[in-house]
Amino acid sequence: MSNILVTGGAGYIGSHTCKALKQQGFTPVVFDNLSTGHEAFVQWGPLVVGDIQNITELQAAFARYKPLAVIHFAASAYVGESVTDPEKYYNNNVTGSLKLLQVMREHACQQLVFSSSCASYGLPSVTPIPIDHPQNPINPYGHSKLMVEQIIADYANAYALQATVLRYFNAAGADLEGDIGERHEPETHLIPNAINAALDATQTLTIYGTDYPTQDGSCIRDYIHVADLASAHVLCLKKLQTNNDKKGFMQAYNLGSETGFSVLEVVAAIENKLSTKLTRKIADRRPGDPPQLVADSSSIKNELGWEAQYSDLPTIVDSACQWAHQELLRKKSL
Ligand code: UFG
Repeated sequence: MSNILVTGGAGYIGSHTCKALKQQGFTPVVFDNLSTGHEAFVQWGPLVVGDIQNITELQAAFARYKPLAVIHFAASAYVGESVTDPEKYYNNNVTGSLKLLQVMREHACQQLVFSSSCASYGLPSVTPIPIDHPQNPINPYGHSKLMVEQIIADYANAYALQATVLRYFNAAGADLEGDIGERHEPETHLIPNAINAALDATQTLTIYGTDYPTQDGSCIRDYIHVADLASAHVLCLKKLQTNNDKKGFMQAYNLGSETGFSVLEVVAAIENKLSTKLTRKIADRRPGDPPQLVADSSSIKNELGWEAQYSDLPTIVDSACQWAHQELLRKKSL
């Protein structure tokens, strides 16, 4: 039995990780309430429709599938929404994680890979951001991720939980074989929004701020291909599985490409790829957006030998455009 419980496995990063898990001989058991995930993205193992805030549903999934470990993606993940509706974020992300950890303990499931975020750093004092940079989040989403990291560290200490925490920078792109991709409703992310505006002349891309202290005034982000994120999860899981020591620990890694691109640079790359000019509107800054977030991912490279393979901007944009074309055809056929 090589079952891995993947909470949020019907979502964007979760589904790509399920595909990578299956390719490496694991069976991903998706546990997802389908509030933002998609049943059609569950292609590599069984789906349990359940909520991480529901202990009974979690217990039933653990009893049935007896997972070796958990990869925990399920969370609310819109920075802007977290500012206006923090209760949702603390319930889903913090209470939900606590319940998951409780049921893991009940079932003696001791290994966890947790989806954290560079949003847990807040405004960086140095760039690229090293893994030991102080964490001072500036929005409830970032607070909720940091709180869960702290809970995990305490569980590692008290209950011998063995955990890897992955702080993602900006997940982007789509499966290179076109099986799955980004399908958020509503879509708030730059790359899909810009592609949609480029493909549909009736749509306008809003650019949130060109008055930041960056070279062109727009925000800089570190875009990492979702397939590279997926491979990192499998690597971390394998590392946990080969650990013979019973002691608890929590190990955190940054996951980024270590290269920053401004919003305007990303827009230009998409226009170039699609040979078009998109309609844009410059708006005020979006609340909760730091000017610049770029990763120092050296610790996962040095310790686990992880390397980003697909996180150059052309590959990210190509795969996201291919997926966007497929999505347009799918919507037309509905
Ligand atoms: N942006 C626009 N127009 C859009 C969408 C985004 O100008 O239509 C800008 C944003 O203001 C930001 C940049 O593009 O400057 C990237 O924005 P995204 O929404 O694509 O990504 P974020 O950096 O806001 O968020 C991502 C993840 C979060 C995570 C965060 C960490 O989606 O889950 O990175 O900062 F918390």
